[in-house]
Amino acid sequence: MSVRITILCDNTAASIGLIGEHGFSALIEQDNKKVLFDTGQGVGLVHNADLLGVDLTGITEVVLSHGHYDHTGGLKDLLLQTRGTRITAHPHIFQPKYARRNGVMRYIGIPFSQEAIEGWGGELRFSEEAVEIAPGIITTGAVPRLIPFEGGDQDLLVKTEKGYVEDELLDDLSLVVETPHGAVVLLGCAHAGLINTLTHVKALTGKDSFHWVLGGTHLGFYGPERLDEVIGELRSFSIDNIGVSHCTGLFAGARLAQEMGQRFRFCTVGTVIEVGTT
Ligand SMILES: [Fe+2]
Ligand SMILES: [Fe+2]
Repeated sequence: MSVRITILCDNTAASIGLIGEHGFSALIEQDNKKVLFDTGQGVGLVHNADLLGVDLTGITEVVLSHGHYDHTGGLKDLLLQTRGTRITAHPHIFQPKYARRNGVMRYIGIPFSQEAIEGWGGELRFSEEAVEIAPGIITTGAVPRLIPFEGGDQDLLVKTEKGYVEDELLDDLSLVVETPHGAVVLLGCAHAGLINTLTHVKALTGKDSFHWVLGGTHLGFYGPERLDEVIGELRSFSIDNIGVSHCTGLFAGARLAQEMGQRFRFCTVGTVIEVGTT
């Protein structure tokens, strides 16, 4: 068995012609199975896949890490290519999600209705629990919030009948991919918190060692003290490699690079991680 992970959407693109956008998407190829984790915001997915020689038409499974537009906006373009694709997500992805910036509310939720998605051939499967996507690939389901300094953002909100309330982002989930060299944890935006997520993966799988931790860590939103606390907790896990994208930012990325040395990688659009049989 071999696993190949290709970053298709990220805030940063490091090669000529590839499009960087605020968002994240990664393709997991496990032998002949193709699973897409997130879709970016809909700017670069198809363009980047074409340029990278990635065939999107064979994708049979999509997993959405949560309902924000920068992870779900590429869904239409994808479904128009694939048809008949199953989409696994937490039921809260369709909540009307907003961000407050300078006192102004901006809609940042999924830009499509459930009916539209189904009309494009998307078969939605909702679960709050961990779900097997394919042999060796599971979602984490909703992640319990156990670490006091992780998660929570007063400026991320859900519109309800009683007005705007803080979005608990219970829809935030990650993906765990078993490989011959150990588990790979793929993070979308890690709103639940990096440590909360890894702690939950440990509870789910019984493993606290990971071959790769990859994706959006959300650490870009943490100040230096909180970042130090996360990195302190990170030392309790055995992590062979860490690859950061999206909401990590340069400051947290540099701090992690200092911590991890050669085991750190900045994962931009076009990055390919291959974990083979040997
Ligand atoms: Fe998000
Ligand atoms: Fe995000």
